[in-house]
Amino acid sequence: MLLLLLLPVTFLLPAGTGAGKIIGGREARPHSRPYMAFLDGRRGEMKYMCGGSLVHEHFVLTAAHCSGDQIMVLLGAHNIHKKEESWQEIKVHRQIPYPRYKKKTRENDIMLLQLERKANLSEQVGIIRLPQPGEAVKPGSVCGVAGWGQTSVTFGDSSNVLLEIDLEVLGDAICEDHFSCYFDPRSMLCAGDFKGNKSSFQGDSGGPLVCDRVVQGIISWGPDNATPPEVYTKVSRFIPWIKKELAKLKKPLDIPGFFS
Ligand SMILES: *[C@@H]1O[C@H](CO)[C@@H](O)[C@H](O)[C@H]1NC(C)=O
Ligand SMILES: *[C@@H]1O[C@H](CO)[C@@H](O)[C@H](O)[C@H]1NC(C)=O
Repeated sequence: MLLLLLLPVTFLLPAGTGAGKIIGGREARPHSRPYMAFLDGRRGEMKYMCGGSLVHEHFVLTAAHCSGDQIMVLLGAHNIHKKEESWQEIKVHRQIPYPRYKKKTRENDIMLLQLERKANLSEQVGIIRLPQPGEAVKPGSVCGVAGWGQTSVTFGDSSNVLLEIDLEVLGDAICEDHFSCYFDPRSMLCAGDFKGNKSSFQGDSGGPLVCDRVVQGIISWGPDNATPPEVYTKVSRFIPWIKKELAKLKKPLDIPGFFS
């Protein structure tokens, strides 16, 4: 029964429910993480928010539990409520959750979003590197997470700006102890901060855990009181699938002069 008591929650924040932001975070230097994507989603009547990262001009990487009826991607933003020259708002053309994503156990919580138009790369909008297939992150590595998770009850009534924290990647045994069978070390990364009360939380879902300028993790789930540790999708496990999906993008439009 211990299991039930420890039942963790996914970090999805329906707009208007309050709770949660990057906890203990500092404001990021504007546009210092040009790969960050803000996802404005809708599921029926419910609006929700997530994070993501640009991994290709046509694709954003996020968590599978961030899927919805419709998603708008905002790139090049620092303050998501103050429009800037650098903003690029692009509709999601196709949501591609990992085929074996399991909602109940949160396994394989990863999704690609194919954009309707390609992102224009600039100083404020850039692509983040993917890890090598099977690449491992050593426990003790310090990685960054960032997000726009909300600070108050009303959507739009939040801190607005991108917040960031540094977290340590932890040994799998720590998450196995905390979450027992919910934690699968083959497809999940354990990370957290036991000293400074810092945590990713609701509304940050889908955003990247960045280690050495590579997106090694995706913000996925953790305890609902934001105590450490938290669980991240292990991106390196899914590289063959990501590469396969990216390769499906048909080329003709990209060939210069093809239609001229
Ligand atoms: C990219 O730049 C082109 C040309 O300026 C513009 O038409 C297009 O809307 C831009 N794309 C986005 C996603 O902002
Ligand atoms: C973390 O939170 C606990 C409980 O709220 C508090 O007692 C402690 O001082 C905090 N630690 C830091 C480093 O802020």
